[in-house]
Amino acid sequence: MIPGSTPIDQRPTDTTPRHRHLLDLSDWSREAMLALFDTTDVMAQVMQRTIKKVPALQGFTVGTLFFEDSTRTRLSFERAARAQSADVISFAAGGTSLSKGESLKDTLRTIDAMQADLYVVRHPASGAPLQISRWTEASVVNAGDGRRAHPTQALLDAYTFRERYTGDAGFEGKRLAIVGDVAHSRVARSNVTAWTTLGAEVVLCGPRTLLPDELGERPGVTLTHRIEEAVEGAHAVMALRLQRERMASGLLPSLPEYRQRYQVTRARMQLAHPDALVMHPGPMNRDVEIEGALADEPRSVIEAQVANGVPVRMAVLYTLLVGSR
Ligand code: NCD
Repeated sequence: MIPGSTPIDQRPTDTTPRHRHLLDLSDWSREAMLALFDTTDVMAQVMQRTIKKVPALQGFTVGTLFFEDSTRTRLSFERAARAQSADVISFAAGGTSLSKGESLKDTLRTIDAMQADLYVVRHPASGAPLQISRWTEASVVNAGDGRRAHPTQALLDAYTFRERYTGDAGFEGKRLAIVGDVAHSRVARSNVTAWTTLGAEVVLCGPRTLLPDELGERPGVTLTHRIEEAVEGAHAVMALRLQRERMASGLLPSLPEYRQRYQVTRARMQLAHPDALVMHPGPMNRDVEIEGALADEPRSVIEAQVANGVPVRMAVLYTLLVGSR
């Protein structure tokens, strides 16, 4: 339950072990994820109300530090903070000239002087949120670091699948296929961790140059270069954008060939489980990694993923700042 209000002089004093940061999902148990989904259900009800605001985080300040572009992630974190009455301060680095090391530390020191309780950090360098967590007393949420992790995206993807597909039946025996530029995708890595922890299997699919072998070493994960094999019998199929901004040249044969071999299409979805969902973390390039018409079909939950980003991130902020009750 969200408490009606948490008086400022009664900040969490409970000493039960809980997560202070969300840097990646590797130290989150299945139980912790399911508890977060339960909190998300409550937050989703708040977002259904006429007045979409509760005082749960009144008196807390959330700082968003975006060293890399973002639309939906940043907006939904800010919405999630404000819907719980937290104050928000925002920092956005234009361009990519910010080097790591001293400049990141100096930037953090400046922002930290403004006394935020939690930072939401996106950075092109893998490990930057972890580094920041060592420099501040505040909680840190990773909103995407390099190709390493994007934990809240994976949580909202899994939550959307739970909402639209499994309900309380759980993730066991379910299979997610992730198709596209897996190599450069923090979304793929975090989804592998989330879905396998929850008990599902994950099949990763892409051309040889975009599908690193080491991702297949985790139990519950298989790799394939054939999309038909990945999609066959899958309960959810997630298409990934070609992340050219992170890509060295020469990794793609040609765009037409890529489309022909790896586009998630209505025809290929015939091979999936009859009720399979179509997912995409966005931003989506229609008719490249996904057939445009498929994205608009009822089985596509791409908009639900974006909508669920708000209650999931509300639950993350609440859990880290106040703790699950
Ligand atoms: C992703 C990201 O930035 O990691 N987008 C997102 O947060 N929903 C995926 C991408 O950029 O392709």
